Amino acid sequence: MKHLLKLMDLTTDEIVDILDLGDRLKYENKNAITHHHLEGKTLGMIFNKASTRTRVSFEVGMAQLGGRALFLSANDLQIGRGEPVEDTARVLSRYLDCIMIRTYDQQEVEQFAAYSSIPVINGLTDSCHPCQVLADLMTIREHKGCLQKLKLCYLGSGNNVANSLIVGGIKAGMKVSAACPPYCQPDREVTQWAERQGNFVLTDNCYEAAQDADVICTDTWVSMGQERNSDELLEKLKQYQVNDKLMEAADKNAMVLHCLPAYRGREITAKVFEEHAGEIFDEAENRLHVQKAVLLKCLKS
Ligand code: CP
Ligand code: NVA
Repeated sequence: MKHLLKLMDLTTDEIVDILDLGDRLKYENKNAITHHHLEGKTLGMIFNKASTRTRVSFEVGMAQLGGRALFLSANDLQIGRGEPVEDTARVLSRYLDCIMIRTYDQQEVEQFAAYSSIPVINGLTDSCHPCQVLADLMTIREHKGCLQKLKLCYLGSGNNVANSLIVGGIKAGMKVSAACPPYCQPDREVTQWAERQGNFVLTDNCYEAAQDADVICTDTWVSMGQERNSDELLEKLKQYQVNDKLMEAADKNAMVLHCLPAYRGREITAKVFEEHAGEIFDEAENRLHVQKAVLLKCLKS
């Protein structure tokens, strides 16, 4: 795999290979089996937005693989003062072995990759969050034993996480439903692609979307960069909460996933969150294992 820019670029087999490797690395990690496959390698991590999980899991992942990671705040790089992406990509390619970027515009990540001679990994843009959804798929498979034919339901803002869940879920052979209000819809390119694949329903009715779902997913109603419109978003999304009534529509053994950070009382009640905290924190942990798999796929093949 050359880069990880968006899940749309991966085949089903590539996704399954990453999940299998993630499972193996998790097993080795839990059993104190060292795996210094990236000794001497350096990952640069450019952050143009805040992060807890992505930053720490990539940094720890590189250390566990025998390499190192450099945290690069976009504010402190010349890119923050207008140095072109094309030049930054070509310069960093001379020092580093791999680059992870978290930023706003997907085009910036794509352009970085076009000018970079080393692998580029998308650590979240306004359009998608591929690393998160690989961890979500790993967690679902771990808890349910398979992905094929399970029903995944996403409720709330049609944001970066929603886009990647729709693409990743369908590529993994799941049935996917999404309930998002008008004006907070996932990207049209994604929903049109999903409709062409079949096994996809987009509605504004939460209960219809959640009916018999095996997995209920949600995310913050106000993503990074949307803070100025937060009152409007909170108003539009208030019918889309994951709560007891909604969970009654889902399968009785349904899992709940949330990429975190979670805002209790908004997209999810504190009660549902705590009842499913085991799954949600497994999901957070699996960021570490699955991203190590992505790093190995990008750097070793
Ligand atoms: N879920 C996720 O990407 O978390 P961070 O924003 O903390 O990295
Ligand atoms: N949709 C959220 C995800 C955070 C991990 C955001 O973009 O802020």
